[in-house]
Amino acid sequence: MSLNSVLRNALFGTLFLLLLPRTQAVSASTNASEYFTSLTSDEKVVFTDWLSTNGTIYPRHAFMPSAAGTDNGAAVFWDIDCESIHVAIAVQGMDDPNGVGWVGFGLSEAGGMIGADMALFESSTLQLTDAHVVEERSFPIVDDCQDWLLNDAIDANDWIIVEFSRKLDTGDDQDHAIKNDDNLWLAPTRLIAAWGHTGSISYHGQKKARKAVRLFASSNEDEASVLIDTLEAGSGGLSFELRENDYEIPADDTTYHTVCKTFDELNLDLPPGPSMVTMIGGVPVINEDTAQFLHHFMVYLQKDCSGDALQRSMIYGWAPGDEGWALPDNVGFPVFNTEYNQAVYVRIHFDNPSMISGSLHSIGLKFYYTLETRTHDAAILELGDPTLTLVGNLISQGITQYDFSCPGACSSTYLGNDNVTILAEYLHMHQTGTRMTNEVVRDGVIHHSAAVDVYDFKQQGAIHIQQAPYEVSAGDAFKTSCYYRDGDQFGISSQQEMCIAYLLYYPAKQSQGFTWFCNLKPGDWPDDGTGCSQELENTDLNDISQSGRVFGTPTNCQLDHSSSTNIQPAVTFYDKPT
Ligand code: HEM
Repeated sequence: MSLNSVLRNALFGTLFLLLLPRTQAVSASTNASEYFTSLTSDEKVVFTDWLSTNGTIYPRHAFMPSAAGTDNGAAVFWDIDCESIHVAIAVQGMDDPNGVGWVGFGLSEAGGMIGADMALFESSTLQLTDAHVVEERSFPIVDDCQDWLLNDAIDANDWIIVEFSRKLDTGDDQDHAIKNDDNLWLAPTRLIAAWGHTGSISYHGQKKARKAVRLFASSNEDEASVLIDTLEAGSGGLSFELRENDYEIPADDTTYHTVCKTFDELNLDLPPGPSMVTMIGGVPVINEDTAQFLHHFMVYLQKDCSGDALQRSMIYGWAPGDEGWALPDNVGFPVFNTEYNQAVYVRIHFDNPSMISGSLHSIGLKFYYTLETRTHDAAILELGDPTLTLVGNLISQGITQYDFSCPGACSSTYLGNDNVTILAEYLHMHQTGTRMTNEVVRDGVIHHSAAVDVYDFKQQGAIHIQQAPYEVSAGDAFKTSCYYRDGDQFGISSQQEMCIAYLLYYPAKQSQGFTWFCNLKPGDWPDDGTGCSQELENTDLNDISQSGRVFGTPTNCQLDHSSSTNIQPAVTFYDKPT
């Protein structure tokens, strides 16, 4: 461990070190030495030297492939103790004639640059800057409070390796709190990185990377393998695939493609009796070559494969970096047991900005199921405008707010005296969506709020909120709010808008044979007596600051390392090879 790491521990982490000794993770370092596969061992010596010294204190690590290819990218290392996260990031390929470079690391709400909380290191000044990006993919804004603490840095032989620490929750509205993500049905944490060989931060080109990780998971075991093991064990090996082989992605910027099969087409080998099976999760079946063209996909249960958006219920949304999902072992989705879940329908959004033609791809999902029922049936509660009643309605220019309010009478009808647990929540708008919230209102007070403060449809089709499961009780009302910037009209294409909150909950609730559902009723819709009818209010705002967005707003500093507490790192500059 270098002198400055010792200094860092002495000044910053002493308390944690005394209470909770940091794990020595020999295997983490061993595996990480295999990163950067295109480099020779001579070219990796700065990295492997660091791995065998400072690298050993980080029990977790992941490789974030760059947009240019999977053999280069950023290696990220971390350790979480009771209150803080300690991060190291290593990048190569500075290709730097002046001996300077920069690297940025970020925690992103939706998965991309917009809405990201960043730590930026410039080797020319040895400064680590706490920054954030709200609306524009442009130069990050410096935070009012400098919460990241620089611990150590190496700029050598084409490498930059930086180590820094922060509280998990700084209480700063220009930072994202780092939340427990250690469960297969919770949203993972979305990391981003970028780097370059200019003296100060500038556009990175292809030197950018994204990855979804579980920061709090205790091992480095590959999440895809953990998921498959869990699903194989839970299903006894029963699965079916929905897959298209040799699909030629059109040479178009954006393509939506559907893969769908009905119960009859799936032809499952089921014992005699009712056709129902219990779906417990699934994994995408895609290779790296195909992944580069994938924007997102959404999985629906529906009546048939006709694509009728009114007859479907979303059960899963995949975004780049996601490995799949598995429900808790007491919860499952009943499938093929009603008229409305006879088909499994996957809508895939491909991105092909380079208009590459002629390449064939195999793409799909593997779904795991059991023949037994689980203790609780899962279901999806859809809020906002799930039946697309607003299709065709024009949206004002500027910032516009649409509030859909579902009264407490609706949950009273469906829940009786029960509570339900919301396991996962996905918020869905299209390209002009800029912020979205879904609130549970109890006795007139906001009881729970799920928010995507900076909506970025480019990253996820429906944004999976990173939050712990929560309960909804009979009598709770909902308010679903969507904010658009220069929207056009409501409709089904990506350029047109939607506003739907999907809440995955258990146990499933029904009334008069209908699943729990609250929509905006068209004028001629008969009163069904459930009380489940959304009220709509539409307000034009002067600007986004009126939308209630919190991320990026000025804040009082609880901890600021730009002040006298900052530690100067002992940055190591190796001689450049002649
Ligand atoms: C002057 C600074 C920067 C400028 C002008 C800039 C600009 C851009 C632009 C125009 C894009 C979209 C086109 C593309 O993908 O190349 C983009 C994407 C991206 N940037 Fe940056 N960037 C800057 C700094 C950063 C930093 C510091 C990070 C990481 C901490 C970062 C991470 C990313 C990532 C991960 C993407 C791809 C995902 C997305 O589209 O949001 N950028 N950037």
